[in-house]
Amino acid sequence: MTALLEAHDLSKTFTLHGRRGIALPVLAGVNLSVRAGECLALSGHSGSGKSSLLRCLYGNYGVSGGQVRIRHENQWVNLSEAAPRQVLDVRRHTLGYVSQFLRVIPRVSTLDIVAEPLQRLGVATDEARRQAAQWLERLNLHERLWHLPPATFSGGEQQRVNIAHGLIASHPVLLLDEPTASLDADNRRIVVALIRAACARGAAVVGIFHDDEVRRAVASRCFDVEHTLPIL
Ligand SMILES: Nc1ncnc2c1ncn2[C@@H]1O[C@H](COP(=O)(O)OP(=O)(O)OP(=O)(O)O)[C@@H](O)[C@H]1O
Ligand SMILES: [Mg+2]
Repeated sequence: MTALLEAHDLSKTFTLHGRRGIALPVLAGVNLSVRAGECLALSGHSGSGKSSLLRCLYGNYGVSGGQVRIRHENQWVNLSEAAPRQVLDVRRHTLGYVSQFLRVIPRVSTLDIVAEPLQRLGVATDEARRQAAQWLERLNLHERLWHLPPATFSGGEQQRVNIAHGLIASHPVLLLDEPTASLDADNRRIVVALIRAACARGAAVVGIFHDDEVRRAVASRCFDVEHTLPIL
């Protein structure tokens, strides 16, 4: 299978501007490659840089060195150097991201939040809403919540809205930051099945899974973020 996402010698150092520009090196010399159908699990202790790496792979954090490359419409795009417009195009068509917490948009209903990635791909509103309802149903989100904005939902309910929003567009590459952290055992099993189905349809997945059982159930390989920094 072909690689869909790669990091080459990636490094990330945060500069703390409010703290007289103190440099905080978090990642160095990260080399990874994820193929279609594969799920790469990022491991490492809290604070080792897993979420930062995922954000670099999403183009959300600029890299301090090296490259992130993604296969987008049959071409390699260097995400670290791409123009903002191209990054948006890559995210619309190729690269999905489930963040740990839902970014709540005031007053927009849950159904419309979940339908939005499909609408951005040109799917008609009714059809996008129909598919959004299917995803919410699959994720056990009670129908009485579908027409409410998720701001007041429980952590686990918000997480399921976030997962539906992240998976609905069937992106070829998916980044998942602790997608099951707030879920009960039944809902964890559903999300595991959805991640496995994404890999089975050929998606390349990079994920952070705090739960060992979930990690074992979905991961094809592990990447230890902990040992990327040189020991000073
Ligand atoms: N925007 C930022 N500015 C400055 N420092 C940051 C920023 N984001 C992350 N860091 C720092 O980078 C380090 C790694 O954080 P990160 O969130 O990537 O860890 P993590 O491995 O995902 O941890 P956890 O398992 O707790 O989620 C931490 O020391 C954190 O303080
Ligand atoms: Mg994290």
